[in-house]
Amino acid sequence: MKIIQTSSDIIHFVTFAKSQHQTIGFVPTMGALHQGHLALLKQAKAENDVVICSIFVNPTQFNDVEDYKKYPRNVEKDIDSIKSLCDVVFVPSVEEMYPTISNKMYDLEGLDMVMEGKYRPGHFNGVVMIVDRFFEIIAADYAYFGKKDFQQVVIIKKLVETGKHSVRIVTVDTVREEDGLAYSSRNVLLSAGKRKEAPFIYQTLLQAKSMACKLSPYDIHKWVVEEFTKNNSFKLEYAAIVDAVSLKEIKDFKESQEAVLCIAAFLDNVRLIDNLELYKK
Ligand code: PAF
Repeated sequence: MKIIQTSSDIIHFVTFAKSQHQTIGFVPTMGALHQGHLALLKQAKAENDVVICSIFVNPTQFNDVEDYKKYPRNVEKDIDSIKSLCDVVFVPSVEEMYPTISNKMYDLEGLDMVMEGKYRPGHFNGVVMIVDRFFEIIAADYAYFGKKDFQQVVIIKKLVETGKHSVRIVTVDTVREEDGLAYSSRNVLLSAGKRKEAPFIYQTLLQAKSMACKLSPYDIHKWVVEEFTKNNSFKLEYAAIVDAVSLKEIKDFKESQEAVLCIAAFLDNVRLIDNLELYKK
């Protein structure tokens, strides 16, 4: 596995692979790699000739400087854990990715204003800025993203829809620990005691799904909020039942519409997100 640090070297690598008619799968990450990332890499490896993984903690997507500082980083361990799964790991510096300060604003048609976007202003503009830059220098055939960051996937698909990049977006199912907690780089920040309580989010999602055949989205949402109110360990930030494409809140389940329940909640000071499809068309 090659380690590349500069844009010019990665462009050179991609150009050469393309000249050999090799397909390229790209997995962008912010490091602190876990089973969820490994699932993306395994799928990319199964479907492409060459796999590139980037590790870059992107400062522009953090609306809170403290959150950026405390984001878990362990590049050496990360690189070691993916050796057999990728051909190139791209680990650029902040200066490499942002040679000048960028204030570029993307029109994401309001998709970035709800749920995560409401509580993390500017977050998705930063995500799109870096992914746009990655797609410019890594002209991959396929890019792999996890469903856990459901809103992020919808927004990145919107970026690609503009026609600027020819990459195809592949969405991979959320990988969960045995007790149902979705793998996340933030899970390591939970104390042992709180970690035991963390599966509550997924259990609530599952129960909500089981109600979708008899209750309205309004009643399910109300029930979810009540469950979180009863649980003193969690502070619910939002729960929303949304259309899987427009991210607009759903009033009634319809056969033509896929409905997803998205949740963000704090357990201690650790912010956890998860989602589950309640109704599939
Ligand atoms: O999902 C992530 O880890 C990040 O948001 C991404 C897509 C790598 C952009 O920094």
